[in-house]
Amino acid sequence: MCGIVCYLGRRDALPILVEGLRRLEYRGYDSSGLALFSNGQIRSVRAVGKIQSLELLLKDNPPAGNCGIAHTRWATHGEPSVENAHPHPDCRAHIHVIHNGIIENFQSLRSELELKGHRFTSETDTEVLAHLVEECFEGRLEDAVMKALRRVSGAFGIGVICQDDPGKIVVARRGSPLILGIGDGEIFAASDVTALVTHTRQVVYLQDDDLAVLTDDSYRISNLQDQPIRRDHHTVDWDVAAAEKQGFAHFMLKEIHEQPETVRNALRGRLDKREATAKLGGLEPVREALGRMDHLIIVSCGTSYYAGLLGRYVIESLTDIAVEVDLASEFRYRRLNLRPDTVVLAVSQSGETADTLAAVREAKRKGNLVLGLVNVVGSSIARETGAGVYNHAGPEIGVASTKAFLSQVTVLYLLALLLARRQRMSYGEGERFIEELTAIPAKLEAILAQEARIQQIASRFAEYRNFLYVGRKLNYPIALEGALKLKEVSYAHAEGYAAGEMKHGPIALIDEQFPSVCLAPRDSTYRKMLSNVQEIKARRGPVISVGTEGDPELAQLSDAYLGVPACDELFTPLLTAIPLQLLAYHIALLRGCEIDQPRNLAKSVTVE
Ligand code: M6R
Repeated sequence: MCGIVCYLGRRDALPILVEGLRRLEYRGYDSSGLALFSNGQIRSVRAVGKIQSLELLLKDNPPAGNCGIAHTRWATHGEPSVENAHPHPDCRAHIHVIHNGIIENFQSLRSELELKGHRFTSETDTEVLAHLVEECFEGRLEDAVMKALRRVSGAFGIGVICQDDPGKIVVARRGSPLILGIGDGEIFAASDVTALVTHTRQVVYLQDDDLAVLTDDSYRISNLQDQPIRRDHHTVDWDVAAAEKQGFAHFMLKEIHEQPETVRNALRGRLDKREATAKLGGLEPVREALGRMDHLIIVSCGTSYYAGLLGRYVIESLTDIAVEVDLASEFRYRRLNLRPDTVVLAVSQSGETADTLAAVREAKRKGNLVLGLVNVVGSSIARETGAGVYNHAGPEIGVASTKAFLSQVTVLYLLALLLARRQRMSYGEGERFIEELTAIPAKLEAILAQEARIQQIASRFAEYRNFLYVGRKLNYPIALEGALKLKEVSYAHAEGYAAGEMKHGPIALIDEQFPSVCLAPRDSTYRKMLSNVQEIKARRGPVISVGTEGDPELAQLSDAYLGVPACDELFTPLLTAIPLQLLAYHIALLRGCEIDQPRNLAKSVTVE
């Protein structure tokens, strides 16, 4: 995820900005840059790769000055490159902008500004802000930024400096965090307290649509209509290590808790309420081919494979497209039945998984359209697929995938909506689909609020050595994913099964030492799942159930029960996945495991 650091004071800004960027490295980034006032001019330096590359460029002729902005970029629009790195300049390189977030209407703003003669040099959504501020500038930077931001939709945390209004930094936010750090005769701004805590612990958390003008050692906050706003000072009492994890004990836990925002980010700018459909810009170039598609093969590994399995249920239930899901590692061993209108979709968080990449190349060799659903922009799979969609989940640091899974699934729901609306789905059904999907983040928040209960359940079950996870239909992939999460982080043996398969073998394992996790929301498979629970209980197997909240029947049958908010059957997996992530996390914690870097596992598996 991108990072912002700004400094204005009496000290030399350069080492402070570079140190701040280093403190944000843990968030993941692919390029960095800074701009600062030096001898009345703004000097800007940008580099691809590690911050060390930026330092190398600065080494021989470091800009001296005490006011500057700096940024680490994690690509969302356009590959990692010097041109796409921040700060972005306007036409005359007098205005420089750093930005976290996504400008949703950048395309239309860019076309408008290009018509007025603005010359763009990057593929980013951010650059539009620099030109828009230039267009609005009449002498006072804050006025221009306010005017520009009133025209923008989407999320932003920004820092702006301007050579024609020197000694001033304007920062603003909407949907992307931004914090002011109040020092002694100096002032900082950053997207994350981690970049501030070595200098000051006095902070001001800006709220959505706040704009702050930093001048010397003072600041003024207003809204975008220039009405002054007062915000309280807070004292940060975290140490640096805790700040990186924003107070969470592990990245995995932080990422689990980020998921309401993850879903919002995956949906941002992609729902067309007027047409009751989804807009996936990355698929526009293959619109016609998608219209002809009658067969889709999803290829992926691990958690991404389970996301694909769920995608199959959703796409098949709404469209006439036949969907297959293949483990990428098995794809090349099959004699593939690829028809001319078969489309292959590679799902990968890292975009670097060797088996998935090999499957992409194999499908391309056959001449089929290959698409990517990838989180890391500019990764190999993103580059090698003809077109695709990004998850926009931000960097996932915990090896066990949590928020990336939910974002993959969210995008697959969007794809299903897009395809279905071109087929049989009615306008009203599209509207209801959008309503259900947009209600998910609040429901996730309600589930996360039950963490203490899940912790209690974990403490009752942490010592068991084996677990069975069962679910049916849409919750079958969630059972597989839940079992994978538990074994990855806690090293307990866990098997995921389709509940209908229980009688065909796994029921032989059940006894009082073998707990089962049963996914039984009130959906069309509910009665059958209750029978599974009864069969397990009849063999003295302990049951942890995840169902719809307020289900006394399921609660009474189970040794431990957790309810998720009610929703349409199609959307239950987006909710039931979360308690299983928390259960795995808390069992692993109680077992004293290396949660963020489990033994023998790597975040990105680049060998076959
Ligand atoms: O980066 P990818 O999504 O292609 O990675 C695929 C798997 O390696 C990955 O999902 C793995 O199973 C995770 N550790 C799951 O938590």
